[in-house]
Amino acid sequence: MEQVVSPDLQAFDKWIREDFVEINSHLEQLYLQQDDPANVVGIGDTEKQQLELQGRELIKCLLAEGNTDEGFDSAFDLLGNVGLYMAACRRHEITEPCRERTSPLIEASALAMHIGASIGVTPRFATAHLTTHNRAVNGVYKRFTDLADEKLFVDYNTKGILAYKRAADALLKIQSLGVSHPITADLLQVAETALDDVLASNQTLFEQLDTDMFFYCVRPYYKPYRVGSQVYRGANAGDFAGINVIDLQLGLCFANEPAYSQMLVDKFLYMMPEDQRILRDCMRRTSIMDEFLKATGEQSSAWYQQNLRRFLAVCERHGETAIAHHDQLVEKYIAQPSKALAQQHMEKVTASGPPLPVLLDALEKLRDRRAAKQRDDIRTRFDDISRLTATLTDASA
Ligand code: HEM
Repeated sequence: MEQVVSPDLQAFDKWIREDFVEINSHLEQLYLQQDDPANVVGIGDTEKQQLELQGRELIKCLLAEGNTDEGFDSAFDLLGNVGLYMAACRRHEITEPCRERTSPLIEASALAMHIGASIGVTPRFATAHLTTHNRAVNGVYKRFTDLADEKLFVDYNTKGILAYKRAADALLKIQSLGVSHPITADLLQVAETALDDVLASNQTLFEQLDTDMFFYCVRPYYKPYRVGSQVYRGANAGDFAGINVIDLQLGLCFANEPAYSQMLVDKFLYMMPEDQRILRDCMRRTSIMDEFLKATGEQSSAWYQQNLRRFLAVCERHGETAIAHHDQLVEKYIAQPSKALAQQHMEKVTASGPPLPVLLDALEKLRDRRAAKQRDDIRTRFDDISRLTATLTDASA
């Protein structure tokens, strides 16, 4: 039987796709006309009020309607719409978590908490809402603004996430085949190609995304905001299981290392329930690297030489994607422009909340784990990769 979509739900979705985008885009133009484009105070007050009130009225109807049980997809989608509204209110400083103890968006908070708790995700908009689970209508998917830079950013986040997921899916299939299986070579090849795709799409983003437009008009929609009394960190492109599945399956990161497991614990509810399940399962498994280390006695076998060579190539490619993310994207679009930003805006730079140097240090360590770099302050696979490389018959090939 075909699902009947509630008229209130349709009206809110239509508003998010049309008037909401128009108001945000107009406000961005106003901010950009200032000497200090990071300032939003006292600018476009009429439009801000319009945004808040129109959203509030539509959300009130949905809250009154209660749980109409239209299934997971519909609930997740509505949570995304409420979240986009709350994130935009935060961006325009209609709400400000430092200023308030609880969110003044009472109806939106109540609806978001009701949905989030009932489907097992964080009660705010997450990356999946804008990327992998963002349905296009006549070729246009949901966005905050009509800015070309925002579309470019979301397009390439979606591409990157989907490519990482392809790599993760291939690596997971190796679990049931084992490292000596002839088809494991094919799966490793699929993973390598997918990581090449991540590299290529991140490179395009790096070349085409305008630094100022990203920093002043796109990134601010990804800030932390309050839902009810609690502040939830901003969304980032890493909020899907695939990236960590790759880390853990390759064996480059350890689920029992405090800094890494802390990151996993913090991100679980930001992922789709399906991703949460995959990651939980993966955290209990042994890595492909450990399987190869156990098999070094087989180094004269053809399977060992062929599959290990491919495995090491996948590890290298994964490291390269992490290096490019950190040294290119984070450096160009976050670290550099932050230096130029007036001190009064500094605390608002990152999506996750910690001060920038702390965030950069954590991301750098993550990069070096993935790249198996030699470091004496954190555990990396530098020695194990060297040991495995030495067992290849022609290490230079
Ligand atoms: C302009 C482009 C991008 C910038 C400036 C950027 C910056 C950042 C920053 C600063 C973080 C730390 C979280 C935070 O701020 O709260 C982060 C996390 C992350 N980003 Fe990006 N990013 C970009 C694009 C991408 C793309 C296209 C991908 C590919 C899927 C990606 C993958 C990740 C991952 C996986 C994480 C989580 C931490 C990790 O596991 O490495 N990012 N990013």
